[in-house]
Amino acid sequence: MKRHLISAADLSRGDAVLILDTAEELASLADRPIKKLPTLRGRTVVNLFYEDSTRTRISFEAAAKRLSADVINFSAKGSSVAKGESLKDTALTLEAMGADAVIIRHGASGAAHRLAGWVRGSVLNAGDGTHEHPTQALLDAFTIRRRLMASRGGLGGIRVSCWPCAVSYDLDSELSKSDVVMMLRVQQERMSAAYFPSVREYSRRYGLDAARMARLPGHAIVMHPGPMNRGVEIAAEVADSVRSTIVEQVANGVTTRMAVLYLLLGGTEFPATGEAR
Ligand code: CP
Repeated sequence: MKRHLISAADLSRGDAVLILDTAEELASLADRPIKKLPTLRGRTVVNLFYEDSTRTRISFEAAAKRLSADVINFSAKGSSVAKGESLKDTALTLEAMGADAVIIRHGASGAAHRLAGWVRGSVLNAGDGTHEHPTQALLDAFTIRRRLMASRGGLGGIRVSCWPCAVSYDLDSELSKSDVVMMLRVQQERMSAAYFPSVREYSRRYGLDAARMARLPGHAIVMHPGPMNRGVEIAAEVADSVRSTIVEQVANGVTTRMAVLYLLLGGTEFPATGEAR
């Protein structure tokens, strides 16, 4: 594995499978009364968040703590960023406090890449604007693998389009052919132009409601990375249905991020789950 995780392309197929397999082992800890492992004891992980986040920030914090790392949470709001301090100076300040890994969420595409040039520790991209969110991709892959392995006995024949992929604007015609439907929030905070006439029209054409969900094959699942806008891209009855993996994705985010931190930081071997403490 490389030292940083800036892009999903930093991972070979073998790296990605190793992360998912490690996450699977760690997931068995989640149901135990004591979830903590000593594997990153003495290491320091910094959460450096320049943008709002609920799932990513909290799950990275939970993941690092479950591996016994010390965690420093930095939010740009309320910090010296408001006084004009740059990303570089902020990062160097945090590094001076002994960061072994810096997890960064930033609105600017490429921010994680720039940071990796300034600090000695590992940099993990927790979302850089319209660019990438590689641990989201990993936790989504983990969720797909778990759900479809259980319902189909394997992943053979599952279709994932890679770039350049086929694009359709007719949601209804695609649903019956889909194994996984991933609904995404319209990120209005990143839009500088009006891309559709109204939320109501967008929802009517592209929102997944119960009638549309009924077109899916029996084994198909509905995913959403969150945060979702109920009633816009996804109806409440779909979000809360048995096909929905939305809550599982959040739980899987903790174990997948534990696996990433463990593998990137070269943690000590984790004990058999019965020995967790
Ligand atoms: N999926 C995701 O990145 O959610 P947050 O913005 O809440 O972290």
